Amino acid sequence: MQLAETYNDKVVRQFTLATVVWGIVGMLVGVVIAAQLLFPALNFDLPWLTYSRLRPLHTNAVIFAFGGSALFATSYYVVQRTCHARLISDGLAAFTFWGWQLVILLAAITLPLGITSGKEYAELEWPIDLLITVVWVAYGVVFFGTIVRRKVKHIYVANWFFAAFIITVAVLHVVNSMAVPVTALKSYSVYPGVVDAMVQWWYGHNAVGFFLTAGFLGIMYYFVPKQAGRPVYSYRLSVVHFWALISIYMWAGPHHLIYTSLPDWAQSLGMVFSLILIAPSWGGMINGIMTLSGAWHKLRTDPILKFMIVSLSFYGMSTFEGPMMSIKSVNALSHYTEWTIGHVHSGALGWVAMITIGAVYMLVPRLYGRTEMYSTKAIDAHFWVMTIGIVLYVAAMWIAGVMEGLMWRATNADGTLTYTFVESLKSKYPYYAVRLLGGVMVLAGMFLMAWNVLRTIRNPQASTADQPVLAPSHA
Ligand code: HEM
Ligand code: HEM
Repeated sequence: MQLAETYNDKVVRQFTLATVVWGIVGMLVGVVIAAQLLFPALNFDLPWLTYSRLRPLHTNAVIFAFGGSALFATSYYVVQRTCHARLISDGLAAFTFWGWQLVILLAAITLPLGITSGKEYAELEWPIDLLITVVWVAYGVVFFGTIVRRKVKHIYVANWFFAAFIITVAVLHVVNSMAVPVTALKSYSVYPGVVDAMVQWWYGHNAVGFFLTAGFLGIMYYFVPKQAGRPVYSYRLSVVHFWALISIYMWAGPHHLIYTSLPDWAQSLGMVFSLILIAPSWGGMINGIMTLSGAWHKLRTDPILKFMIVSLSFYGMSTFEGPMMSIKSVNALSHYTEWTIGHVHSGALGWVAMITIGAVYMLVPRLYGRTEMYSTKAIDAHFWVMTIGIVLYVAAMWIAGVMEGLMWRATNADGTLTYTFVESLKSKYPYYAVRLLGGVMVLAGMFLMAWNVLRTIRNPQASTADQPVLAPSHA
């Protein structure tokens, strides 16, 4: 295969398949915990199946195993095509694949056993943290080494987003994971009290901003123009978008700590920067969507493009909703409620998972020398089952969240609470059922994708892989 000789596509293929597998596993655990909230007996009284242990397993699996594998796959694919250079080292690239899979395996073992640092999205204990650091440094060397080796002068904008994601995640991970080990599997954060909370949410929010956003914007800036067959709507806007996004995201973390013991000025700072964040976020969304101008008709026949456009719409929606939720008076209602969960999944499922799936459908035929996926109809069916599933999930959580927020704050004339906590919990059950249904639909779509990917790989059609391509702006 010509491409495999020019570029290292083996590691891209490995990470792409890992994306599909971990997507199914992570979302399956999501469905299980959604079911547990409805039927608590589903933990079968086994400690390692309790909600508290499976929930971090879900978040780690979907963010770092599914999302992470997708980012490795796409960044390795894009950097080679846009730099016209093979990855700097096949050995190191293979090390990042197997090292990352080992991290995932260790997470899948330790989290159900209850081994955790207790920091959200950074639960893994210190020996695994060290392994992550080593793999990440190797990733940086492969990515930046390839950029250095490039044969074109210009560094295409998608690479800027991938680069910011790699550098920032390294800094976030190292600073937030600073801990004093007390045993081989237990450590305590070096930060005291509220400083720990602030560092944690500086990490947590920027994990959203750089892991779940900047990296996936890198995917957007390569795969959307490629699939639409159009150059990026405004290259100038993409550069402004990049600098604005990375400089503003850093300051918004305290919106996770509104009405806590964090100093009030820091909370206000977080709120203001969150509001400003609408501008670069929407700049990026508009740039992505407008890339389709002149190619809108393609949406009628191209389900991959549908995934991408709906993904960008969810990106716009969640980056409008987030700033609204960071306004103190709105956060007073939304915090601790299902509204946050609705927001999370409109971003994570609507934006992150949908753009990933669009990219996987683009990558698989190219990586295996096929003209297209085995079944376009199955992609279309996946699109609809997933879109409807996400809408059910997110709408159910919005309604449940606002409802419970209002129930918690309702008071009688004599100042006593109108509703007990259990009443608010009971009234959420119908919405939990709708969320579960939505989750099952999303998961069903993932199985459809796995089948389609498998059939595409096995399909003995003649090899007609695309030629090495230039970045859309160069093409
Ligand atoms: C079938 C699809 C999915 C289902 C059924 C599902 C279900 C759930 C459930 C039930 C929770 C716990 C909510 C709570 O504690 O009240 C949760 C949390 C979470 N999920 Fe998912 N999920 C799915 C997909 C995803 C994906 C693809 C991502 C990321 C790419 C994701 C990221 C998260 C995050 C970050 C949280 C924690 C939210 C928070 O702490 O506020 N989920 N999910
Ligand atoms: C302009 C962009 C955004 C802003 C300003 C923003 C703001 C917020 C706010 C205010 C909260 C609630 C904090 C709380 O009350 O506890 C929140 C939670 C969250 N958001 Fe966003 N959001 C944005 C975009 C996104 C996107 C695109 C995603 C996913 C891809 C996302 C993922 C999350 C997650 C995972 C949480 C839950 C964190 C936790 O408590 O565990 N956000 N966000």
